[in-house]
Amino acid sequence: MENKRIIMGSDHAGYNLKLKVKAHLEARGFEVADVGTHTPESCNYTIYADALCKAIAAGEADLGILVCGTGIGMSMAANKHRGIRAACCENTFSARMTRMHNNANVLCLGERVVGPGLANKLVDAFLNAEFEALIKGKYKAQYDARMQDTIQKRLKSSKETVDKFNALSPTLEMLAKKYGVDATDIESLNKAIQEDES
Ligand code: RB5
Repeated sequence: MENKRIIMGSDHAGYNLKLKVKAHLEARGFEVADVGTHTPESCNYTIYADALCKAIAAGEADLGILVCGTGIGMSMAANKHRGIRAACCENTFSARMTRMHNNANVLCLGERVVGPGLANKLVDAFLNAEFEALIKGKYKAQYDARMQDTIQKRLKSSKETVDKFNALSPTLEMLAKKYGVDATDIESLNKAIQEDES
C-alpha cells in the first residue's frame, strides 16, 4: 500500500490538519504531493478540490485527501468531477468501508470536526483498505457491468463531450475568466480572489 501516490489539498481552515496528516503519512513511507493551499491565509476551498481532482484524473496520484473546516465543502466540490468518488468521514468504520464498498478515491476531513489523532486514524483506515471487488470479487459482476456501460458510453461520446470532460472545472474556469488569470496558475488565481475580497 505504501507505494500508492497520495495527493493532499486544503483551504485555510484545513491547512494545519493537512500538514499534520502529511507528516504522519510521510513517516509511514508515503510520497505525498500537496496542491496547496500553502499558507494559512483565507482562500476558496473549491480551487484546491479542483486542482487535486484534476491531478488524480490525470493519473498523477492514486488517492487524495482534502481538508477544509468541515470536510463537507471539499467533498461536494470533489464529487462534481467525473471519476472522483469523495467521502467525508468522521469515523474509522466509514473511512474503511468507503474504500471497500464505494471504491472512494478521495477522503475529506474537517479540521473543525476531528482532531489530529483521529484524522490520522481515519487516513490509515482509508489507506489500509482496498476496494472489495478487486480483492474478493464480491461486487465484481456488478462493477464489471458498470464499467462496461461507462466504456460504451465513453466510446459513443462525441469529441465535444470528451473535450468537455477534460476541460477545467466550471468553477475554476469561471473564476480564472473573471480575474483574467491562467486557470492552471492556482496561486495567482487565489491571490486575485483574495485581493478582490480584501
Ligand atoms: C471556511 O471557513 C469553511 O467554510 C470551509 O473550510 C469548509 O468548511 C467548507 O465546507
